[in-house]
Amino acid sequence: MGIMKRLIGWGRRARMTAVVGAVPTAAPGNSEVTFVRCARVSDLHAGEVKQLRLRGGHEIALALVNGVIWAVEAYCPHEGWPFKWSEIDGEEGRAPHLLCGRHGWRFCMDTGDVLDPPSFDRMAVYPVRVDGDDVLVGLPGVM
Ligand code: FES
Repeated sequence: MGIMKRLIGWGRRARMTAVVGAVPTAAPGNSEVTFVRCARVSDLHAGEVKQLRLRGGHEIALALVNGVIWAVEAYCPHEGWPFKWSEIDGEEGRAPHLLCGRHGWRFCMDTGDVLDPPSFDRMAVYPVRVDGDDVLVGLPGVM
């Protein structure tokens, strides 16, 4: 199974939780993720998409929406547009939508699903934890 397929399966765990840790954590499919400190909560601005390059070559995008931190892949799975140049629809009562800045496709930041047809590519999403002011993101293959 390709790494992107495995990442998609972790989407439902992308919500921020107040759990301390930077240890490998079991993920569906007997895969493991390692929670890596990658940003400070105080550096995130509501509604903005922040792009980060992490150890292991991972590039992710973080967003703080309605008090919840979301982590997704850095580039649109359609044609690779950087999500840092995208917008967020953070309507209360549901997971926020990420609107790609190139063609306007909307992606659910919880599941990674594309919300606008024609759609076939999903966005990878990552689990997030918070330890004080540190944001930790669960990444595969990082030890
Ligand atoms: S590049 Fe993102 S929708 Fe086309």
